[in-house]
Amino acid sequence: RTPSQGMMGGQMMGNMGSTATTATTAKTAAHQLALPPLLKPTSASKTKVAYTLTAQTGALALKKGAKTATLGYNGNYLGPVLRVKRGQILQVTTKNKLKQATSFHWHGAILPGNVDGGPGQSVAAGQQKTIAFKVSQSAATLWYHPHAMGSTAKQVYQGLAGLIYVQDAVSQKLNLPDKYGVDDFPVVIQDRNFTANNQFDYAADHQNDGTTGKTLLINGTLNPYIKVTTKLVRLRFVNGSNARNYRLTLSNGQAMHQIATDGGLLAKPVAVKTLKLAPGERAEVVIDTSKLTSQVTVKNGQQRVLALRLASNRRQQGTLPNELTTLPTVDTTNAQHQTLSFSGMGSMVSINHQQYDPSRVNLTAKQGQNQVWTLKNTGTMMGNEIHPFHLHGVQFRILSINGQTPPANLRGYKDTVALTPGSTVKIAFKFQDRGTYVYHCHNLEHEENGMMGQIKVS
Ligand code: C2O
Ligand code: CU
Repeated sequence: RTPSQGMMGGQMMGNMGSTATTATTAKTAAHQLALPPLLKPTSASKTKVAYTLTAQTGALALKKGAKTATLGYNGNYLGPVLRVKRGQILQVTTKNKLKQATSFHWHGAILPGNVDGGPGQSVAAGQQKTIAFKVSQSAATLWYHPHAMGSTAKQVYQGLAGLIYVQDAVSQKLNLPDKYGVDDFPVVIQDRNFTANNQFDYAADHQNDGTTGKTLLINGTLNPYIKVTTKLVRLRFVNGSNARNYRLTLSNGQAMHQIATDGGLLAKPVAVKTLKLAPGERAEVVIDTSKLTSQVTVKNGQQRVLALRLASNRRQQGTLPNELTTLPTVDTTNAQHQTLSFSGMGSMVSINHQQYDPSRVNLTAKQGQNQVWTLKNTGTMMGNEIHPFHLHGVQFRILSINGQTPPANLRGYKDTVALTPGSTVKIAFKFQDRGTYVYHCHNLEHEENGMMGQIKVS
């Protein structure tokens, strides 16, 4: 090493060490993790469950001093958990009490295009709209968030996002940890910056290549912990950040057992020491604390995400089976092939050199026909970024990443996949329903800048 290299290294280390993140984490007192309420249905039967969701303004006491102005569904920040069983009709009355248009998109849901809440389906300020669709997919942790063109990124940043838990016979038979807030916790990970007056400042933080913040908010909690009273604890991680990618580890180096991806259970648990999550992705893990004697922390690099405070007498509750579910083999017979190339940066991002135009249908497909899509992140000469590819209305399977079989924890149902710089990812799926759907980069600023296209399924 030459002295100058050494100094550069030292400076970089110094900069990293002095970021507000580290400082904030160290100074902020620990808080018990906030749990989004389980929403009470307005009506429920064997075949149908109905909910009401209201997008509204709110305020959160996050720091000493002024409250942070926020947006939330039925509350101050984020939204409640909607629970639905496979086979039931999910009906949601969506109300917009904001002073601006919003939309209610059901991310990861397999549903007809006209109820998916995409960019063309806004609910105007003061208006409401009721949608319904039959839930025909496997048990999974899905989520909902706004999708109106031009305001998606800002509204999500201010707090609009919530969870949908789909349950089915397979998931209910497994005896996995599933007591909400006891041994089964949602963990929505978001990053934010604050003004001196404790406000989210989207305008000032806005970056064309993705808005990121130095401080983590987990379910809207700063520096959170959970009390662990059972040997097994299940965490449902949701990357609800606009643009930040996470690499989650446990502070003691122990592996987590990943049991589910975006769209449902894996065939069997997969031990993962580092769990990567791009914006929009979800992963459910079970952590075995039976051999632990002191607190363990979920971390993202040096940053604390969630501390697990262990009760001394932890109960045996729930199990981690060797087999979880049977995933069908991927069928690619007579598939229609598409190639999508993701390129550019900042405001110049595009898919196949086109930017989103609401009046243009970029692709067409037939309902029920097998699809094989090749997704390429061709990068730019100027910079390299991960583009998390997301397609509405389906769950897909990953056939290959750079020609290789995907790692075991990416072999389940997915609706979002990270395209790392220079990579090629092949996916397979079919549209079960009809309508017009969007596909886009889930870096929300890239999406707003036009890294999105439309497909018409007939
Ligand atoms: Cu999570 Cu098109 O969205
Ligand atoms: Cu992108």
